[in-house]
Amino acid sequence: MMRFAVLVSGNGSNLQALMDACAAGRIQGELVGVLSNRPDAFALERAKAAGIATQVLSNQAFSDRDSYDAALIQALETWQPDLLVMAGFMRILTPAFVQHFAGRMLNIHPSLLPKYQGVKTHARAIAAGDTVHGATVHFVTEELDGGPIVLQARVPIFPEDDESSLAERVLSQEHQLYPLVVNWFCQQRLRMQDGQAWLDGQPLPALGYASDDEDLALS
Ligand code: GAR
Repeated sequence: MMRFAVLVSGNGSNLQALMDACAAGRIQGELVGVLSNRPDAFALERAKAAGIATQVLSNQAFSDRDSYDAALIQALETWQPDLLVMAGFMRILTPAFVQHFAGRMLNIHPSLLPKYQGVKTHARAIAAGDTVHGATVHFVTEELDGGPIVLQARVPIFPEDDESSLAERVLSQEHQLYPLVVNWFCQQRLRMQDGQAWLDGQPLPALGYASDDEDLALS
């Protein structure tokens, strides 16, 4: 079984979706640990309640990004993960960290990348007058929120939406997307090669699986 670790900073609703999917047999992989950079992250409580190992590595104890990320590699390697899953981990990673885990790191981002890289994605989509928004799962590369896209989900933006109603709608899609993609990786159907995402031996389109054909059912 593939071993995966999850990195969190906050509430951990995506972590919960991954743990629930594991418990239900929808992810054929083993969640070996949850690491938070914030000691007060509620995600840690969720992990403990599920009997998953946790670690806290607070960035406040480190003077620079390089030394923090070196310690982060060491902490994570104690679990010997085949895959790192970023689930609301709100840190920019150094090139050394990204290289160490190249091809075995996934992130979920609350926008239809390449639109709205960075933070405050929901507020920015509303302010721009967009009528469609969503979430993206992608491989992590050195370009912030810029790695190869695996899968996206779209949601409508309604005139009465505010940041929190839209965030909630996007999150419910994130909870569907992430377990599916993590399972693909654990089943060795998904990989990154030559800067591209591949599924079942086929390179994925620039906007990910099924982006050219909305009628394709997810399997
Ligand atoms: C999610 O919306 C995730 O996409 C976003 O943080 C939220 C975490 O929620 N991630 C980023 O913005 C990364 N740049 P959660 O803690 O409830 O899973």
